[in-house]
Amino acid sequence: MQKFILIKKKIEKFKKKTITVPGDKSLSIRFVLLSSLSQGKCTAYNILKSEDVISAIQNMKKLGVKIFINKFKCEVYGEGLFGYKYKKNLVLNAGNSGTTARLLCSTLIDAHFPIKIIGDKSLIKRDMSRVIKPLKLFGAKIKDNNGKLPVLIKGSKFTKPINYNENLGSAQCKSAVMIAALKTFGTTRIKSLPSRNHTELLFKNVLNVPTKIIKKKKYDLIEVKGKSKIKPFNYRIPGDISSAAFFIVLTILSKNSQLILKNVNINPSRIGIITILKMMGAKIKFFNKKKYKGEINGDILVKSTNKLKAINLNSSLNSSAIDEFLLIFLVASRCNGVSTFVKLSELNQKESKRLDWGIKILKMMNVKVIRTKNHGIKIWGNKTFPVKKRYIIKDYLKDHRIFMLSAVAALSLGGNWKIYDPDSFKTSFPTFLKTLISLGAKIE
Ligand code: S3P
Repeated sequence: MQKFILIKKKIEKFKKKTITVPGDKSLSIRFVLLSSLSQGKCTAYNILKSEDVISAIQNMKKLGVKIFINKFKCEVYGEGLFGYKYKKNLVLNAGNSGTTARLLCSTLIDAHFPIKIIGDKSLIKRDMSRVIKPLKLFGAKIKDNNGKLPVLIKGSKFTKPINYNENLGSAQCKSAVMIAALKTFGTTRIKSLPSRNHTELLFKNVLNVPTKIIKKKKYDLIEVKGKSKIKPFNYRIPGDISSAAFFIVLTILSKNSQLILKNVNINPSRIGIITILKMMGAKIKFFNKKKYKGEINGDILVKSTNKLKAINLNSSLNSSAIDEFLLIFLVASRCNGVSTFVKLSELNQKESKRLDWGIKILKMMNVKVIRTKNHGIKIWGNKTFPVKKRYIIKDYLKDHRIFMLSAVAALSLGGNWKIYDPDSFKTSFPTFLKTLISLGAKIE
């Protein structure tokens, strides 16, 4: 029988509560892949132990990298930039993880034999052509299934640097090109729409790869000089703002509640969700801010509010809030007035078609919502919307963020919710339900 959870009661008000969320997923996957290319032992503290990160680790192990993980730390014994042990007929499985699949492709541009990459039911629907195209320009030979997985990659000894225009605003594409550049003699140049900049910060501040970044008004110019040795490094991974976001929204939408989230990564390229929620009138403050290897970590204080107002968002914050739009739509449904969002086609490129799902869930909740031209969405919000019905969330390709969004909607707005596939949140936030329960949530 298919598993599910039931939520039948709103969460009671919570105050003076402090939580931590697990390590950042983007940084955890980047640590695993980049440390594997270093020359010696690297250690990460507070690495995220979720299925997506485990997929990355297992693939590195299949490539001959020794990795040990215990409760608090992950040790990776890198064998150098060209140290993978390629075998014939090797199949790597990226599971549900788009970041692992796309960045893994670029680490294979020196593969001696064709290496196959596969993924789960959701990942095989996602576009891989966005990384295949630039990797072919470097000189890799790639066979794909109409731009999707499975892909077969055979690298080259003679990769050449490229000039690349990244115009999706995708950090995965930008990072794939940067990592391929590491294994290539010469300087690769990328003109990239702004997106999360963890790879740039790691290259510059941790790996000491010669990297130049010029910030222009609308795009970044990035230059990476390849084939330099990567010395072993250590890294302390901060909490994931994308996981924190579920608890921030739960607090905002619950009555008379307050929450502190400790040690979260508040890198400016990731906090679009906070800027947008504040535009809507949410009460959120950062404190104890610290710089760490180029990133900014800090604590977050959030309080509930019943004075939320609709917004008209242009697309400039889309990339820095890309994983949080389901939550933003939910809050918009509680804002008095009509909110509009534009240029969100990338949401339909995620673990499920999130723009379509956002609309579907809001309609199910009787919220008036329409799709607009330009891959946009218009939401008629209402703070006093009565919620009484039964809701069933099913067949969503086990998208972790749809599961967690549904739980937050159920606990903050009420209703009788049956949410299928309760293992889905383990791809990014294995302690999600435990943390909800620690705040008083009743979940069957
Ligand atoms: C990620 C980048 C984003 C994001 C994903 C993680 C990363 O994807 O949605 O969850 O770690 O680089 P895109 O770069 O494709 O927008």
